[in-house]
Order: sequence, then C-alpha cells, then structure tokens
Amino acid sequence: MMETLLEVREVYKLYKVRKGFFQKEDFYALRGVAFKISKGEVLGIVGESGSGKTTLGKLVLRLEKPTRGEILFQGREIFSMGKEYTRKVSVVFQDPRSSLNPRMKVEEIVEEPLLVHGERDRKKRVREAIERVQLSEEFLKRKPDDLSGGQRQRVAIARAIVLKPLLVVADEPTASLDVSVQAQILDLFRTLKEEGIAFIFITHDIRVVEKLADRIGVIYGGMLMEMGNKEKVLNSPLHPYTKFLLSNVPVRHPRERREYSYEESEYSIPQRGCPFAPRCPEFMEECSTKVRRFELNGRVVNCNLY
Ligand SMILES: Nc1ncnc2c1ncn2[C@@H]1O[C@H](COP(=O)(O)OP(=O)(O)O)[C@@H](O)[C@H]1O
Ligand SMILES: [Mg+2]
Repeated sequence: MMETLLEVREVYKLYKVRKGFFQKEDFYALRGVAFKISKGEVLGIVGESGSGKTTLGKLVLRLEKPTRGEILFQGREIFSMGKEYTRKVSVVFQDPRSSLNPRMKVEEIVEEPLLVHGERDRKKRVREAIERVQLSEEFLKRKPDDLSGGQRQRVAIARAIVLKPLLVVADEPTASLDVSVQAQILDLFRTLKEEGIAFIFITHDIRVVEKLADRIGVIYGGMLMEMGNKEKVLNSPLHPYTKFLLSNVPVRHPRERREYSYEESEYSIPQRGCPFAPRCPEFMEECSTKVRRFELNGRVVNCNLY
C-alpha cells in the first residue's frame, strides 16, 4: 500500500448566499467529500461549473476552512502545520495572467517561495525550476506580459514546484489556453508526475484527465458522485451523472463542438438528498431525501442505485 499523503475526511463547506434583499440562504458547496491521495498519485476532479471543484481546492490549500470535517496531510491536521504546509503543498491556478504579478520578472516570481521559506542557493534553484518546465534561461529577465499564455503557465508551474512540493493542486490549469498549447502543458504535468509529485488536477473537461490521472473523482452539487481507478470510471461508469458527462464530452474540433444539452442555470441544486436528482434519468423517490454510499475495492459511488 502506498503512503497516504492527503486525507480529506467527510468535508462540508457551507456558504450563506443572498436570497432576495434581506434573506440569506444556506448553500452547501461541499457535502461529505472524502478521499485519500497517495504519494505521487494524480487524482482528477471532474465536474461542471459550479459543482464545488474550486472550493475543494481552496480547502486543501487552507485558503478556506471546512464547515465540518477535516483534512490531514501525512497524518496531521493541515491547519496545525504552519508554514511547513506551503512548502509541501502548492497551487497552479487557471489563469496565469491573474495569478502572476505583472510587475515582477520571471526570476523574481519563481524565487519568491524560496525567499518566503528562507531557502539558500536560490538562483541555482530558480534556474533548475525553469529548466524543469522546459523554458530557457532567457525567460528569467522577462515579465509575464512579454510571454505567451503557455509560457506564463509554465512560469506558474515553475513557481509551484520550486520548493519540491509533494502535492500540487492544479485548478483548471489548461482551461485558459489554446487547445494546441493545452496538450503541451498536459505533457509537462505528466513529466512532473513521473518525478513523483502528486496532483489534485481539477477540470470541467473529463478528457483532460484521460491520460494524466490515476484516479478520477466526479463531483456534482458538492458531492463526490463517483470515484475510482481512471479506467474503471471512464470505461464502466456507475453513476448516472458520470454517464451523462461521458456522453456529452465536447468533440475535439471547435467546429464540431456542440453545447451541452441543457441549460446549467435551469437546474437548482437540491440541498437535501442527491444533488443530481432533478436531472437524473434513474430518479427514484428516495433520492429526494437520501443518498447511499457504496464502496467496493476502492471504487466509491454515492447513488441509491447501488
Ligand atoms: N464565497 C462564496 N460565497 C457563496 N457561494 C460561493 C462562494 N464560493 C463558491 N460559491 C458557490 O459554491 C458553488 C461551487 O463553486 P466552485 O467551487 O467555484 O465551483 P467550480 O469550481 O466547480 O465551478 C457555486 O454554486 C458557487 O456559486
Ligand atoms: Mg472553479
């Protein structure tokens, strides 16, 4: 059994959302999310916009606190870990244009985490990081505005790996890039995976994690609908939502692209029972009040069909 790096234990995140002028309503962005990640493993988190992916990433990064439940890293609750945690866990955001300081040179951007942690040999380690993301040293003196989207994302990745983290949370890191550049950045993630870094790789496009992920977690309405080995989830999906996602995978060529067959905003997400219930072709009475969790051989499905 591989060493467990991160353990997310039945995490809930409650937001108060505005309802009309004076009222506020409870809204669970995450509900009972639980999973583990082993050393060097890539977990793809897949789900449509609004399903809670970024919230989950924020919780793992300590940018927000869970309302209930806890997250452990190497057996320790992450909020008890101090600065040491940010040495071991880092982040790559969707849009490097907003995540990189435009006034800083690439070398300063990549050096910053080393400075924060009082590391030595900074110049050398910045050059190593830049090399690992397959940029040449001439980029060190440039600023983000002088780079292409793909180059900027490489800089963001260099910054994320410069401290040799054990886990990187990547929140839609290819979503802002052209399709051809996306493939190159995905290749880079695969190389980093081979170096032994674990990833939580968040995407709305299930195809993006086809090659990269070891396991896939499918999330909707803040609930992990299904999680398991990548081949199992892609080739024999169990949850109706996973089946729906797979049957609506956007085609590769933009000209052939068709829109999802529904309007996302039409469906409000029930706060009780299964979030997918209003859209589910297999809907049963009990789905409006509860969801059963089924676990077998590392495969998890939150669905009353099983
Ligand atoms: N700070 C917040 N306050 C209120 N609601 C929020 C907040 N952050 C996220 N949400 C809501 O939580 C849900 C999940 O959001 P998010 O995690 O960003 O989803 P995703 O990244 O999958 O698109 C959405 O309905 C969103 O509107
Ligand atoms: Mg998001």
